[in-house]
Amino acid sequence: MANMTVFGAQWGDEGKGKIVDLLGSEVACVVRYQGGNNAGHTVIVNGQKTVLHVIPSGILHDGTLCIIGNGVVLDPFVFLEELENLRLKNIDTSPKRLFVSPKTQLIMPYHKVLDSARESMKSAKGKIGTTGRGIGPCYEDKMARIGVRAGDLNDKELIRQKIETALIEKNILFKNLYHVDEMDVDAVYKEVMAVADKLLPYVQDTTAIFYELKKQGKSCLFEGAQGVMLDIDHGTYPYVTSSNTICSNAGVGAGVPNEFITEHIAIVKAYTTRVGAGPFPTELFDDTGKYLQQKGGEFGATTGRTRRCGWFDACVLRECYRICKPTTFALTKLDVLGGLDEIKICVAYTLNGKEIAVPPSSAADFANVQPVYETLPGWKEDISSCLTYEELPENAKKYVARLEELIGVEAGFVSVGPDRNQTIRR
Ligand code: GDP
Ligand code: IMO
Ligand code: MG
Repeated sequence: MANMTVFGAQWGDEGKGKIVDLLGSEVACVVRYQGGNNAGHTVIVNGQKTVLHVIPSGILHDGTLCIIGNGVVLDPFVFLEELENLRLKNIDTSPKRLFVSPKTQLIMPYHKVLDSARESMKSAKGKIGTTGRGIGPCYEDKMARIGVRAGDLNDKELIRQKIETALIEKNILFKNLYHVDEMDVDAVYKEVMAVADKLLPYVQDTTAIFYELKKQGKSCLFEGAQGVMLDIDHGTYPYVTSSNTICSNAGVGAGVPNEFITEHIAIVKAYTTRVGAGPFPTELFDDTGKYLQQKGGEFGATTGRTRRCGWFDACVLRECYRICKPTTFALTKLDVLGGLDEIKICVAYTLNGKEIAVPPSSAADFANVQPVYETLPGWKEDISSCLTYEELPENAKKYVARLEELIGVEAGFVSVGPDRNQTIRR
């Protein structure tokens, strides 16, 4: 099997966790390469649900190694809590199969305070609706070259110095701009060092592991978080997350050459959802929107927020194809569309009277586009127990075929329910 990425094609929550878990038994290793615990990846096996935030979604397969790459921002407290929850389910979380790159940036307590303080201060219109997990501030410190990395935990003096440096600036902001309590260097140092010994056994040269697996002819899966439209460069800026979510970031965020990764599986929800603020041309505010939200269980796996729902948007997928060139895609949640009389697909936008095929780069223009819809007939049958493509109702097949035509590549997987086994492979 080739090395592959599995990444979100829309605004996140496409069902990446489910597909990564499904393929997790067929690869030697699953690697997270960006994002942090803003992600919530749900895996359901025989009705048993596990939500993973930072630990790769391959963890449920005993023999599969899991790596948290250098491109991830890791909250050590959340990592240890997630480990504990998995241990309680008898899942092997030992440092023999789970590794963290020494170059991985750590989310520090002050990053979370800064994230929330900033969002609270913004007017309702200016809010991004972040997850409040400290993601943006942690990536800022990485780029400002004052971040704390997992490998730094070996050097107590360095950690103390870095916390001190970071807090000089941040305390000025906390006190004078955001009017929240200043943070004490000693207290933060103690809090972080209290978990250092638990985290350090996991810290290893993760690039070396990849090369060892390659030598043995084994393959790796690179698990993306969020989705193309939340990418810091290519998404609906500024309503995006703070990392490159597209599949081409896998090599950078995992510390391996991109040329080794030849398969790119885009995860595509059969309709569209978005959590947080920002433009969403096909959003539905009517009963159909509520139907998708209820039937699809569209509540955030991380913050519990209600996800905004709307029709499938082919312009978003055209952008995904232009930038990522997926080799195939997994269509998820097709079952949720069952029961509707008609299903709409947005095939283009109009902006100031002109038709356009891909999202405009400006958020203001994006907020003003009008979707151009095509309407397809729906189906009434429950498809959640279909095991083959042939069993799908004709209208469901027509819908999939039209999406394939619009996306420009064939669907390798059609997911008809949340459980691992509710997946049709073609
Ligand atoms: P991720 O962030 O991309 O991993 O997606 P989430 O886990 O946040 O959200 C996807 C949700 O849809 C989860 O609750 C999954 O259990 C569920 N899900 C995944 N695939 C399907 C499917 O084909 N049908 C249905 N009904 N639910 C699905
Ligand atoms: P998964 O991996 C959906 C959204 C937030 C917010 C914006 C910025 O489960 O698909 P951040 O905390 O990252 O600074 O928030 O990005 N967001 C997600 N939306 N799924 C996710 O992850 C998300 N991670 C971040 O709601 O709008
Ligand atoms: Mg999610």
